[in-house]
Amino acid sequence: MADPQRFDVLVIGAGPGGYVGALRAAQLGLRTACVEKAPTLGGTCLNIGCIPSKALLDSSEWFSQATHKFAHHGIACDGLRLDLPTMMSRKDAVVKGLTQGIVGLFKKNGVTHLEGHARFRDAQTVEIIGSDGVQQIVQAGAIIIATGSEPIALPSLPFDGDRIISSTEALSLSAVPQHLVVIGGGAIGLELGSVWLRLGAKVTVVELLPRLIPGAVDAQIASALQRALTKQGFTFMLGARVTQGEVQDGHVTLTVENDKGQRSELTADRVLVAVGRKAYATGLNAAEVGVAFDERGRIVGDQHYQTSVPGVYAIGDVIAGPMLAHKAEEEGVALAERLAGQAGHVNYEVIPGVVYTWPEVATVGLSQEAAKASEIQCKVGTFFFLANGRARCMDDTDGMVKIIADAKTDRVLGVHIVGPRASDLIAEAVMAMEFGAAAEDIARTMHAHPTLPETLREAALNIEKRSRQS
Ligand code: NAI
Repeated sequence: MADPQRFDVLVIGAGPGGYVGALRAAQLGLRTACVEKAPTLGGTCLNIGCIPSKALLDSSEWFSQATHKFAHHGIACDGLRLDLPTMMSRKDAVVKGLTQGIVGLFKKNGVTHLEGHARFRDAQTVEIIGSDGVQQIVQAGAIIIATGSEPIALPSLPFDGDRIISSTEALSLSAVPQHLVVIGGGAIGLELGSVWLRLGAKVTVVELLPRLIPGAVDAQIASALQRALTKQGFTFMLGARVTQGEVQDGHVTLTVENDKGQRSELTADRVLVAVGRKAYATGLNAAEVGVAFDERGRIVGDQHYQTSVPGVYAIGDVIAGPMLAHKAEEEGVALAERLAGQAGHVNYEVIPGVVYTWPEVATVGLSQEAAKASEIQCKVGTFFFLANGRARCMDDTDGMVKIIADAKTDRVLGVHIVGPRASDLIAEAVMAMEFGAAAEDIARTMHAHPTLPETLREAALNIEKRSRQS
């Protein structure tokens, strides 16, 4: 057998954590390889996650605007029709452009791309089996596991890839469903539910908890989103679970039980199961070489991402924390910098989260409930898009901004937004929190007029009840 190839750093997985970490390691002069089993680079985010879903969200929002809103702006769209194959091929082209971009970035920065399925032989050695069956042996001083996550299946409703689908299939349906039932009112359920609702499907969301997007998002923001989505045509069954499902003649019959024990039946032509994702490390042989996992199948590591095996590290969705591309990227960069002797660091207090519905939801830091639960004395400022000049010009007035600040120090603890372009607006809040800003700092920062970011300033002013726009 040929001698093993040797690198300073071997990254397993070319998603946002892996490919960004590999690029940073190579930029810092470390001899770096990145192995990926899929034919294209970019992982879930670029191939079957963030990017294709946003491409379809943007396309379907144009369609929805043209159908429901253009007339109000004085634009008549007679004969408007959906060309789904073109919409899908545009989405595929966006994905292709970006995944090929990573190939270019690897070349430019000197990262060796290895194609195949990686499996640990020992803590420093990995064997890679290519799609052609050819085996390579690679050794590295540092091996980074960045293998990501996969959708969680419901035992009562296993995925069949046709009627009972995950986000992967929901990104490539060849026809608009008549009735799409979405199980799970989290980010994936609401985003992909929005795509198909806008394109003409009836969409029912069955969510276990009594509210949407539970977790980090402020409850007032989540209910504002629910109102906006209900107006668009979503049906929500909250505090409800699917107890049974049967596929017959191209239809799925679901039994839904609410929190009062009442049962009802739903019939759908597609069911999207979006009840969360779980860490993915299948076939890696990591446990066998001593890597420890927690009870949820996530790899356990220290604060510098080293696993229970010295020299083996893990980042991104395969470890604890929010399953977000940008969190994984930051971890990849911080780890590469530490491996190169620098002081890489991730600030976990300021991870933005976005749900790309329309209106969008974007959050950073504590919600009002989380501050209360931690017994932090806080003050709150809110501002509604209805009172923002630019939002009125756009005819996009649903939503609000909420700023939570420490009652004594005025330091911004959290910003939660539901509204137009919330995904862009949150960047200012993240920057403010990264710099340790007080609400007063945001209130005294000049904002161009008329713009959507003025809502942030007005919410900050509202903490002391001195908003000016109304
Ligand atoms: P999620 O954890 O965000 O939401 C799942 C929802 O399903 C929760 O509201 C939960 O209460 C509900 N649920 C769980 N079991 C259920 C059951 N048996 N019946 C009904 N409801 C049930 O998970 P999701 O939406 O699948 O997303 C997976 C991961 O991907 C998340 O970590 C999410 O943050 C990430 N993601 C992020 C996006 C973004 O940043 N825009 C977009 C898509 C996914």
